[in-house]
Amino acid sequence: MMIAQDFDLILQDSLVYGRSHLSCGKVADYIPELAKADPSHLGICLMLPDGTVCHAGSWKIPFTMQSIAKTFSLILALKTVGYEKVFSKVGMEPTGDCFDSIVQLETKQLPPFNPMINAGAIVTVSCIELPNPFGAFLELVRQLCFNDTIRLNEQVYLSEKRTGLRNRSIAYLLQSDHILEGDPEQVLDRYFRMCSVEVTTEDLARYALILANDGTDPVTGEEMIEEWIVRIVKTLMLTCGMYDESGEFAVKTGIPSKSGVGGGIVAATEQGMGIATYGPVLNKKGNSVGGIHMLEYLSRKLNLHYLANKTYTAV
Ligand code: DON
Repeated sequence: MMIAQDFDLILQDSLVYGRSHLSCGKVADYIPELAKADPSHLGICLMLPDGTVCHAGSWKIPFTMQSIAKTFSLILALKTVGYEKVFSKVGMEPTGDCFDSIVQLETKQLPPFNPMINAGAIVTVSCIELPNPFGAFLELVRQLCFNDTIRLNEQVYLSEKRTGLRNRSIAYLLQSDHILEGDPEQVLDRYFRMCSVEVTTEDLARYALILANDGTDPVTGEEMIEEWIVRIVKTLMLTCGMYDESGEFAVKTGIPSKSGVGGGIVAATEQGMGIATYGPVLNKKGNSVGGIHMLEYLSRKLNLHYLANKTYTAV
């Protein structure tokens, strides 16, 4: 039986392994404010089902969620308008393209393939029929991360709003094909705000703990998200959460995970543990280099691959 100190040691080792790969990537700079991140930062937080928190490295550094927000906006859309409406506007299939690609929109492969790419997330955000969608989003994030102080990083939000021309192109293309309802600028503003909510690995590991336990908080026993919603979100994290690196990540690590260009990755294990990593150095696919390697290391060391405990008999 492993105790918290054993996990602390393994996290330290994963950090060393993650650090040894940092030279093969760079910090995102297409959102100018993100370029200010310190490339030497790397950290991890792991929560056990009894609420024990283990951590290593720069685990307390705040960063913006970026695409990790796509998991929360999907939860909110499914909660408010339901399965039929959401999946009439966005698909469930992985793409082999990068996260901000417009190629499928231009060739009329509609609706957008899945809620984890930018086009799919912008449509998902437009589905949230509430008087104050960003307010409801922030409230959900605070609730699921158990942290009432989580807030918007105004600088990052303004920086992306000013420079997010690709996302603007996506929103207008979607409007021209009658997929996006409402004012594209208003939907984009919501999307940019959601991406710019600032968290730490501790916040996201707490959220991952709930996802890992099918929506019920193992610490309090309270149902925080309905199980059918968690099943959809985790399936899409596994198949699409790391963009055009999702297949390789599923083979090597096998943990439903979602990355963001702010450097975060949130990962919900089959064994009921919540994990979050932070490292702003990204690879060419837009995923955290250190984060991917730390999760790969942990998966091997702790046998966390979602198929790891199943045995197969050849027929
Ligand atoms: O829309 C964007 O481009 C960013 N706000 C989020 C993209 C992102 O995080 C992709 N992640 N790996």
